[in-house]
Formats: sequence, C-alpha cells, structure tokens
Amino acid sequence: MKILLLDGPNLNLLGTREPEIYGTDTLADCVRDAAAAAASHGYEFEHRQSNHEGEIIEAIHAARGTADAIVINPGAFTHSSYAIADALAAYDGVKVELHLSNPSAREEWRRLSVVAPVVTGTIAGFGRAGYRMAVDAAVGRLA
Ligand code: DQA
Repeated sequence: MKILLLDGPNLNLLGTREPEIYGTDTLADCVRDAAAAAASHGYEFEHRQSNHEGEIIEAIHAARGTADAIVINPGAFTHSSYAIADALAAYDGVKVELHLSNPSAREEWRRLSVVAPVVTGTIAGFGRAGYRMAVDAAVGRLA
C-alpha cells in the first residue's frame, strides 16, 4: 500500500517564499511529516516536486496501478490546469487536494480550483499540519 505526495510549482521555495502566507517551514519539513504519517499507518511513501505541468501529469499517470492514493498540492496549477484535472480524473485511487493557505480566502483568481471536481476531498488553510492531515485523510478513506 502506497501514498504518492505531489507538490507543484514554487513549493520548492517554501520557507522563504512569502512566509507571511506560507510560513517558515520548508518543503522538506512538510514532506517529513507526511512520510511519518504514512509510515505510522504502515504505508509506503513517495514524494515528487516539480515546477513543470507535464512532469506532474506523468507522475499521476505513473501512479495508476502503483499507488493507492495521491496527495497533491498543485500550487497555482490548481486554478488553471485542465490537463492535471484530466490526469487526476483518469486515476482511480483516493485523491486529496492540499493547500497550505486557504485559497478561498485570498485573491479572486484563487477561488476557483479546476481540480476540486475530480478529487475525493480537499484540505486547505492549515499550513504545514495539512500535509499530515492529508495523509491521514487518504488512509482513512482507504481503510
Ligand atoms: C497553494 C495555493 C495556490 O493558490 C498557490 O498558487 C500556491 C500554493 C497553497 O498551498 O496554499 O502555489 O497551493
């Protein structure tokens, strides 16, 4: 049983990127929490971060038949990428959309998520803790 965590564009800059919004924890800190949560449930865990839409799509394709759940923070692709939404729609496992901030409480253009209609559920607004919560939610849905 395996969980794939995918992080999209600019999330590699966590820790120094707009810390007033995203906090000072790094992506490595978030990934460590998610990995520990997966291990505590007896799940294998893999993490990928990419600034490139096509790489994210290919990682979702590779998860078909190899991962039981995807936790994805698509970054700004959340609001624009029909291609990532289509890739997620073609993935049969549990899908958790994850955001550090609460995009609904920010600029108007962030209020639409084009991936929301094709995921199992969304966790947003809890900062670093959301990474652990998203893994717990995926495992809860698989149990
Ligand atoms: C984000 C929210 C997006 O609107 C933004 O483009 C990001 C990060 C979040 O985790 O809060 O890059 O997905």
